Amino acid sequence: MGLKLCLIGYGKMGKMLANLATNYDCTVVSIIDPQQNNYHSEISLQSIGEAEVCIDFSHPSVVLDNIQKVLSYKKNMVVGTTGWFDHLEEVQKMVENSASGLIYGANFSIGMNIFNRLVAEATKAFDRFPDYDVYGLEMHHNQKADSPSGTAIELSKTILANSSHKKTTLFDPAYRKIEPSELHFVSLRAGSIPGTHKVGFDSEADTIELSHCVRSRSALASGALQAAKWIKDRKGFYSFSDMVSSVLC
Ligand SMILES: NC(=O)c1ccc[n+]([C@@H]2O[C@H](COP(=O)([O-])OP(=O)(O)OC[C@H]3O[C@@H](n4cnc5c(N)ncnc54)[C@H](OP(=O)(O)O)[C@@H]3O)[C@@H](O)[C@H]2O)c1
Repeated sequence: MGLKLCLIGYGKMGKMLANLATNYDCTVVSIIDPQQNNYHSEISLQSIGEAEVCIDFSHPSVVLDNIQKVLSYKKNMVVGTTGWFDHLEEVQKMVENSASGLIYGANFSIGMNIFNRLVAEATKAFDRFPDYDVYGLEMHHNQKADSPSGTAIELSKTILANSSHKKTTLFDPAYRKIEPSELHFVSLRAGSIPGTHKVGFDSEADTIELSHCVRSRSALASGALQAAKWIKDRKGFYSFSDMVSSVLC
């Protein structure tokens, strides 16, 4: 039967997790979603049942409450829902005071996590050569709700952390000459473009571009399932990046 899972939130991601679970030797034993008939409507010891790990892909407005409940039942948890990162310290304390393990991430794609590491290394290298300037570009379909993407914000933080020249990020049009200390990271929305993030390094002589393009949301679900297996026997508070680091070391 493999790892027994409880899915909290049965929307696009929840359904994808259920479809892919067996590929990762996991079995969904419980689904909790108040809006969907045939499933449990509330988190309780009874609705979690015999699940060993809960995976939350629900909604920013309820995720903190969900985390609190799951921890109170001393269950381990994967949190894929975004929009609560202002409360990271508070949740870390909650996890440390419980006997549980929790892993969270804004992007559970292993490819994007490694891409972010490549961007950090490339920024560090080009930073030593002032002929090169760094830029970012993200492109998505025209139905995407937010702009810039959360991933673009993360990538811009990586670039600023590894560059001695860039101090701030400009996501909007400048309508003027940009300052050398500004990183220009632009967004484009059109048609059905799959989530694409590019980071480039440009000089008079050449352009080097790193590019990540999502082919399917299944990459996010498979990362979350791997995170569930990783957190099963751990206690404490971890990011998805901690998990990837533990594999790379
Ligand atoms: N970390 C990552 O890699 C990653 C990847 C994709 C998405 N996300 C994030 O994960 C979240 C869900 O994404 P999605 O695309 O799956 O959204 P979605 O299709 O809207 O699914 C969310 C589901 O959770 C349900 N829900 C709402 N309140 C709930 C509660 N109290 N308990 C249990 N379920 C509840 C929703 O019901 P209603 O529709 O009726 O509200 C909906 O069925 C979002 O925050 C998104 O940004 C993260």
